[in-house]
This record gives sequence, structure tokens and C-alpha cells, in this order.
Amino acid sequence: MVQMLLSRKAACNAHGQDSSYFLGWEEYEKNPYDPDTNPTGIIQMGLAENQALADFMGQLRGNKVELEWRNLVLTAGSTSANETLIFCLAEPGEAFLLPTPYYPGFDRDLKWRTGADIVPIRCSSSNGFRITKRAVEKAYRQARKQSLRVKGVLVTNPSNPLGTSLTGGEIRTLLDFALAKDVHLISDEIYAGTAFAGSGGGYVSVLEVMQGHPLHSDLAGRVHVVYSLSKDLGLPGFRVGALYSGNAAVVAAATKMSSFGLVSSQTQYLLAALLSDRDFTARYVAENKRRIAERHGRLVEGLRRAGVECLESDAGLFCWVDMRPLLLADTFEAEMELWRKVVYEVGLNISPGSSCHCGEPGWFRLCFANMTADTLDVALRRLQDFVASSGRGGGRHPATDGRPRGPIRLARWMMMGLSSSCERGY
Ligand SMILES: Cc1ncc(COP(=O)(O)O)c(C=O)c1O
Repeated sequence: MVQMLLSRKAACNAHGQDSSYFLGWEEYEKNPYDPDTNPTGIIQMGLAENQALADFMGQLRGNKVELEWRNLVLTAGSTSANETLIFCLAEPGEAFLLPTPYYPGFDRDLKWRTGADIVPIRCSSSNGFRITKRAVEKAYRQARKQSLRVKGVLVTNPSNPLGTSLTGGEIRTLLDFALAKDVHLISDEIYAGTAFAGSGGGYVSVLEVMQGHPLHSDLAGRVHVVYSLSKDLGLPGFRVGALYSGNAAVVAAATKMSSFGLVSSQTQYLLAALLSDRDFTARYVAENKRRIAERHGRLVEGLRRAGVECLESDAGLFCWVDMRPLLLADTFEAEMELWRKVVYEVGLNISPGSSCHCGEPGWFRLCFANMTADTLDVALRRLQDFVASSGRGGGRHPATDGRPRGPIRLARWMMMGLSSSCERGY
């Protein structure tokens, strides 16, 4: 039945994969040579292995799920993996539901060449931007109202831009939704190795939750995971990513499509050697998480000193920062005005929430991992100065009667001991 949910492109046979050129590869997979266990088998003379990446992905999931390398398709980064999945699962004009805020690149990766649509699942700060059944159902109804056929939900776990991991409960909600509506679930887990809280962080893979689901076998063909080494190994330039799917038709179609975004044999060879060193990868991931946690703490602390709060997070290379108290009005225009000030006057390139389709003005994403600790300190000092001077400088607001103007949030700002700054704005 899940097969019926694929796109025409995934189901058709026009790729030319049936030529003997490709069939030789398939024969090798059925009967691989091994000097000890299968000395008469076929010797592979051109294709690198997916095993090392599958093992590494399992390692990042605490070895609680075993990934089958045959279900893995290598792609030129997650960008390509996400687009390939949409090509496999949707026709132009069909839709995927995405929780907001989401990674701005998805508008390009999921929609641009595929012709598919995105319908937002509106998440809000009132519950820390958590995904609820109600919000998912609402987005589904909205899509139907727009006459869009929904083919699935796509989440990023851990989230870019929130820096939070989905809870087991949120994932179960999504799995149940996929079953109830007969749709797919794509989980982009590109930040899996950045989950820094505690030993394993709060991160749990959709694969692990699916494994424990009573309808596991019904889910296997509709759950797809996207991964890449761009974040966890800091290798975006290598363009190594993958999609992992329990749906054989999706794997077959994606393998054909991967012709358009291959990872070079040399790159595969190098990375297979690197990833096969399990001691190295374990030490690398642990040290990476330790440094991310440290840097994250430095940013949160520095922001706090400036009187700025952010969403509590447990993963990722960024924080989701609440700058609502700095807005002159509760609007996206005011958010853009603040953004322009921060970029052009303060000299910090940060991303406004509206670029991530956040439904509430005043949230910004701040990356902390792409600079030295000294540079982060310079950035924090600039921000602290900006916040402080915005209070002293008597900006463009005439001081009124000394009471906070506009949004109630100003009261919260004052509680932070920065009342004078907010009365006048900046
Ligand atoms: C959630 C998410 N998916 C995909 C990508 C693209 O990654 P890649 O470099 O592997 O194409 C990014 C990059 O920032 C991302 O944040």
C-alpha cells in the first residue's frame, strides 16, 4: 500500500538502470567476494561501501538501532537527500507539512525543482515550539482547504533553528499521524551528533521510536531519515550525505536519482577509512559534543548578562534567541528593523525568525560554533553594548510617562533590570 504513495517518477522505469552496466552492481551485492567466507563471489571493482556510514549513524544513535547498509543511499549532502526524497514521494503540487520555525533552505530543497509545496505546522513559544497533535491536524486541514494532497511530514531532529531535540512523545504523535493519514515521515537528523545535553542528550532518533512502536512493520516503508557529515564532522565541503529508508522502492528510485549528485569514489574511500575507526569516531563525537556544550554555555551566559534569554536547547550549533523585548512593535516589520540594526550597526550577522517562517516576531537564530571563543566574546560584547546603549541613548521614542509602551513583554524586559532601555527604545 505504501508503494502507492510514491511519485510517478519513483515508480517509472525510464532511468536505464536495467542495463548490464548497473546489473553487475546488483549481482555483486547478492554475492560479494570474501577471501574467507565467499572466495568464489563477485569482486567489486568500482563501488565504495555504505557500511561505514551506516555503522557511524548507528553509533550516533547509541547503537540502539542497527542500520542496514542496503537501505542507505549516498547523496551529495542532506540538500540532495531531502530533494531526492521529495522527488520520490510527491508529484508537483503535492504537499509536505513542516513544523515552524524551519531551516530556510527547505524552501529551495523541497519545493524549487520538485514543484512540491510546504504547509507550515504552526508551533509557538507558548510551549517552547513543541509539536502537538492539534497543530499537525490543523496544518493538514489547512492543506486540504488549499486543495493540496498531503504526502507527508518533514521534521528536523534535532531542530535547526531551535537547537532542541524532539521528545519521544512528539515522534510518536508524528508516527501515529503518518499511519492515520497514510502519509510519509521524513526526519532530517543532520544534527544527530551535536546533541550535547547529558550523555546522549535528549535526542532520540525516529528510527529508535519506530522500532518500539506496536505497528513497526506498517511504519517501516513510510519513515525515511536524512543525514550528512556536514555538521557532525564539520565537512560541508565534502558533500557527503545519505537517505535511509525501509522502503525498497524508495531506495531503488533514490539510487537511480543519486546519479545526479554522486559522492566521488575518492571521497568515499577516504571517509570509509575514517569512519571505520570506531575508537576515533567515538572520541571525536564525545569531544565535539563537549566543545559544543561549552560554547553553547558561553553564549547563553553572555546573552543572559546582556539581559537576553533564549530557548532552552540541547543540540545544534546555534541558539534560538528571544529578542522580543527589543522590538519597537510586535510585528515582522519591527523584527526586520531590529535585524538591520544588528547587522549594519552592531556588526553581527544573525538570522531573523521570519526567515525560518517563525509565526511570532522577535526570535533570532545565533550561531556560535563557526568562530573562535575570542570572536564569540567580541560578538557578545557588541550585543551587550547595543542593548545597554539602546536604553541610554534616548533613541527614536520620546520617553513617555515612564511606563512601558506597547507589548506586555516590555514588562518582562523591565524585570530583567533594563527598564530604562526599553522605555525609550533605540
Ligand atoms: C536541517 C538541515 N538540513 C540540511 C542542510 C544541508 O546540509 P548539507 O550540507 O548536508 O547539504 C542543513 C544545512 O544547514 C540543515 O540545517
